[in-house]
Amino acid sequence: MSSSTASSSAIESVLVENRVFPPSAATVKAARVSGMAQYQAMCEAFDKDFEGTWARLARENLVWSKPFTKTLSQGSKPFYKWFEDGELNASANCLDKHVGTPIENKTAIIFEADDGAVTKVSYKELLAKVSQFANALKAQGIKKGDRVLIYMPMTIEGVVAMQACARIGATHSVVFGGFSAKSLQERIIDAGAVAVITANYQMRGGRELPLKAIVDEALGMGGCDSIKTVLVYQRTATACNMVAGRDKTFTEALAGQSTVCKPEQVGAEHPLFILYTSGSTGKPKGVQHATGGYLLWARLTMDWTFDLQPNDIFWCTADIGWITGHTYVAYGPLAAGGTQIVFEGVPTYPNAGRFWQMIEKHKATIFYTAPTAIRSLIKAAEADEKVHPARSNLSSLRILGSVGEPINPEAWMWYHKHVGGERCPIVDTFWQTETGGHVITPLPGATPLVPGSCTLPLPGISAAIVDEMGNDIPNGTGGILVIKKPWPSMIRTIWGDPERFKKSYFPEELKGYYLAGDGAVRSADRGYFRITGRIDDVLNVSGHRLGTMEIESALVSKTDLVAEAAVVGRPDDLTGEAICAFVVLKRSRPTGEEAKQIANELRNWVAKEIGPIAKPKDIRFGDNLPKTRSGKIMRRLLRSLAKGEAITQDITTLENPAVLDQLAQTN
Ligand code: PRX
Repeated sequence: MSSSTASSSAIESVLVENRVFPPSAATVKAARVSGMAQYQAMCEAFDKDFEGTWARLARENLVWSKPFTKTLSQGSKPFYKWFEDGELNASANCLDKHVGTPIENKTAIIFEADDGAVTKVSYKELLAKVSQFANALKAQGIKKGDRVLIYMPMTIEGVVAMQACARIGATHSVVFGGFSAKSLQERIIDAGAVAVITANYQMRGGRELPLKAIVDEALGMGGCDSIKTVLVYQRTATACNMVAGRDKTFTEALAGQSTVCKPEQVGAEHPLFILYTSGSTGKPKGVQHATGGYLLWARLTMDWTFDLQPNDIFWCTADIGWITGHTYVAYGPLAAGGTQIVFEGVPTYPNAGRFWQMIEKHKATIFYTAPTAIRSLIKAAEADEKVHPARSNLSSLRILGSVGEPINPEAWMWYHKHVGGERCPIVDTFWQTETGGHVITPLPGATPLVPGSCTLPLPGISAAIVDEMGNDIPNGTGGILVIKKPWPSMIRTIWGDPERFKKSYFPEELKGYYLAGDGAVRSADRGYFRITGRIDDVLNVSGHRLGTMEIESALVSKTDLVAEAAVVGRPDDLTGEAICAFVVLKRSRPTGEEAKQIANELRNWVAKEIGPIAKPKDIRFGDNLPKTRSGKIMRRLLRSLAKGEAITQDITTLENPAVLDQLAQTN
């Protein structure tokens, strides 16, 4: 909880935002959670009987092969356990459950490839695919408890791979296809994975990008001896290197495998997956989620937040490499028996009207995307009327969603007007990799909306704003966002590092509350939450979470060139935050063209170390970094410099004031 970034302008704007958009009477009437009175009654049920209410929901919404008798075990706080003695299988809860019901022939996934080709699979077909793949995994000797790393493009096969792991009780760890070989290698080693599931290439924006070659590079870096098998999906016709004895194509692995596979029943606390995310220190953390509690929340939030109805066509644009793609692509929509769109490509190819054209083509009813995408599509639509949403028929839409970063009121208003036709509620869902699913969000048929506010906690989620000692603070005052009581889909631990889990999320001074890592403020009138940004050294660039120290470590690992580096975020109109790196080189400070060229070299280096998403936008060179006399880097000052602000802070303790002018210059 160092360096506060809670911006005072964001806090001011929540106080002045007075536009309110209540749901229409018709929306309220038709919704699963119908009106604020029902929302309040649901919250009160938890107040009256917290465990009893969770137990009832878990029994009603999941299929248990062995019913649980214990709801919440608090014996080893903060390592909470939910439904501990119950047994279930996540894949059975997403697929088998629907087969033998009218849903079995319903389309589970409408897949649209980068080039526009469409493939559909029904629930019955998906179950057969998952079962066959699960059998192929077993044939490779992969078993319950093993970790399997998935490095796949957005495809039906990506979802199948995740579901197949769940089916046999293997814990998957999906790594986003934009991460580098080095990032992949680190995650393979940390998870102790036995297999990698990948594709030869991925298609993005008409370009064929290698995946298998990056896997080969990662495995060649050493330390990955635990990997015995690499399964390769041939996404394109281009050949890739295959290592005899280790690598198999999907076709080879699936040959002769039965399309029936009995799901392996696991304890509710069995780790369903590990997903790596950035924290305040250099090393990404493996967020571990449990099977029962996670799945329950994925299922419930589909009903509550998205009001999923039998005829809905749900579209979450997130990649399966992120938590949003786990909960609202790979698990939630399937557990709820919905029809969803899975999209391989990018929003700007072949043109920036792609999302709107796809909504029209597939008659999407619920559309869930990130503010960054919205902001870039606003810009594109303003520049070229041909890609404006008005060019597409969006009348099928009934609910819009936003996720991953704060949505600025201007973008909210545009989304509401031009995409939602002023009739679709926008659910601005606040949550995190660690929370497993939504925690603070409007409900489309209940909550009056305020642009830029994620409004109120979901029933069962005791979100609050406190001071540094965990004391409640009044509405209208910014503070630290916490969740006071445990909930079923919460992070269980950091894989292999329980101490870091305790320290990061349950610091002693906060009375045992879960520390989200964000600052927030509640409005004085309605008590609505607005997230003001991270209070730790985590950046949010285009909805992607990155640690400043992770990027600093990458920069200083270029030992022939870099002596020291400090990274901060600065506000950016398009990407929310932008990465700004202050670098001291081992040679003299470069200027002009040379500075530009070295800055580019460093950007490419970071892309190679972490992934292109971590490339600093600004790189600035100084003879030194601004430090106090005790040698501490003055990050507060760097933040002002990054923003281009005049330095008004007290710099009397600054050792070397002359570097400030140097560091004010961008390259
Ligand atoms: O800072 C918050 C921001 O994204 C962080 C979580 O990032 P990640 O674990 O990658 O998960 C993103 C997808 C759930 C949070 O700590 N964040 C997420 N949603 C919102 C948000 N900030 C403001 N408003 C949101 N709706």
